[in-house]
Amino acid sequence: MFNIIICQNYDEVSREAFRIMKETLKKEAPVLGLATGSSPIGLYKKMIADHNSEGTSYRNVRSWNLDEYIGIPRTHEQSYWTFMHENLFDHIDIAEENIHVPCGEGEDAEEECRKYEESLRDVVIDLQILGIGADGHIGFNEPGTPFDSVTHVAELEEQTRRDNARFFDDNMDLVPSKAITMGLATIMRASKIVLIATGENKADAVYGMIKGEKNTGCPASILQEHADVTVVLDHAAASRL
Ligand code: GLP
Repeated sequence: MFNIIICQNYDEVSREAFRIMKETLKKEAPVLGLATGSSPIGLYKKMIADHNSEGTSYRNVRSWNLDEYIGIPRTHEQSYWTFMHENLFDHIDIAEENIHVPCGEGEDAEEECRKYEESLRDVVIDLQILGIGADGHIGFNEPGTPFDSVTHVAELEEQTRRDNARFFDDNMDLVPSKAITMGLATIMRASKIVLIATGENKADAVYGMIKGEKNTGCPASILQEHADVTVVLDHAAASRL
């Protein structure tokens, strides 16, 4: 079931997402599923501002991130580990040991996937934040990924690598071609999901997710089966609905 919120601008999108986040943060020991990409940055800014002005604490929060590139070190400026620290973790009081980001540095990525999925075995994510790729991917679950997938190594599509090249000096050779990602079944286990999408280049993916046929050609269409998904959009991303 989709609850669709269409906003005037990105600030309003971030405010709506933050409102739901704030509800989750009232829990005694909230578990957050977090995403990278430009879409959730406004939400993270609001979380930081609220932490500073209202004193909202993250001491009891545990977090699991969706994905991470394989083949660049954690300290690389474009790693998702660095992204999360720069855009959120360094500015709130979450404990480092409560943060989980898959590690794409090791020799054995398959083993890392197994361990990551295992770390989530007895955990229910209270609120999963998602963006969406222009091809309908969530996390790095590209078209064709089985709906029953758990954390796995993903090969990135050309389009996804092209979309992300802007973060790698526009040099496609520098964009990793593989990543570790939570699977679609892993994501579906979250109690509540908030998906943020803005801009015209997301309009087709948003349409496919909500109104398209439910199949692996649009990975996000699996969310049609989830009981509690809020999709927060601007008018451009909602333009095909
Ligand atoms: C990457 C990430 C996704 C993200 C997507 C969209 O591929 N792995 O988690 O949702 O990009 O990113 P953006 O929000 O920058 O458009």
